Order: sequence, then C-alpha cells, then structure tokens
Amino acid sequence: MNTLNKLFLDGLAEIYDAESRLVWSMPQMATAATCPLLREAILSHLQETKAHVTRLETLFQSLGERARRKTSEATIALVNESHEIMSRFRGFPVVNAALIAAVQKIEHYEIASYGCLRDWAVVLRNKEAAAILQEILDENKTTNQSLTELARSRSNQQALSEHACVSEPTTAVFCQTAACA
Ligand SMILES: [Fe+2]
Repeated sequence: MNTLNKLFLDGLAEIYDAESRLVWSMPQMATAATCPLLREAILSHLQETKAHVTRLETLFQSLGERARRKTSEATIALVNESHEIMSRFRGFPVVNAALIAAVQKIEHYEIASYGCLRDWAVVLRNKEAAAILQEILDENKTTNQSLTELARSRSNQQALSEHACVSEPTTAVFCQTAACA
C-alpha cells in the first residue's frame, strides 16, 4: 500500500470520527437555538450527518476495510467551543448568531477535509470514492451557505437585542421578544 493510500484511509477514519461525534452534539445545539429556523436547519443537517456516517461506512466496505475511527482532535475542540458558547449565551437572542458561527466552523473543517479526500481519491483513481466524497462535500457546502444566509437575514440583527428569552417547561427554549418572532 502506498503512503497516499494510508493518508487517505487515515483521513477517512478521522472524518468518520468527526461525523460520529457530531451526531451526538448537534441535538444539543438545536435545543440551545432560540430561532425556530436555526433549530430546523441544525436538525435537518443532523439527518444528513447521520447519512454521511452510513455513506462513509459503505465507502470503507467498498475499499475492503473495516470502518474505523481516528480521533479528530479538531472536532473535539470545535464541539467544546460550541458547548462554551451555549452555556455563555443560553436563552439570549445572541445565542443564534453564536451557534451559527460554531456550526460554520465545524462545516468549514468538514469542507476542507472532504475536499482533500475527494482530490486524493481522484489521484488514487478511485472514481466511486471521489463521487461519494463529492456528494458529502456538496451537502456540507449547502449547509454552510444556508447558515450564512440565515445569519445575514435574521440572526445577526436579532443578536443586537439584549432581551433574555424564557424557558418553557419543555426542553425547547422560545424567545418572546419581537426580534425572534
Ligand atoms: Fe456537516
């Protein structure tokens, strides 16, 4: 096995670890969002993320490898950062702008990872792997783009409001200021 192949398999194992961690973290981020549109966007990307995990498992299988995880230290750090901002801004309208930034940092990490993996698959003449990685890359890019649009059209402006939001008896948190309506 050449060293690029090893690098490729390590990269797959690392992004597989990242996606698996995100399946656990994204529900907490969705719960912390006070903007229903953001909550919906995070939950919808959670479904895509679950599908990415499955597609990576299929990819490992097609390569004749067992799906394995290599700890993604970058994802651990980015998820820790998202927990920190959630506890710092929980219940305030600014939490949505903060969450968008946190999720976009994660998406950018994924976009860089999938972009490199796709290119390595091309060099390794594995068209099937390159096509799968391109699909996942495109979905992460679309998520990133819709978050930018949400931030610019709503969340960044709403973040100017200092009114605290109130917690409902359920797990969801709803903002009662006009800015979040
Ligand atoms: Fe993603």
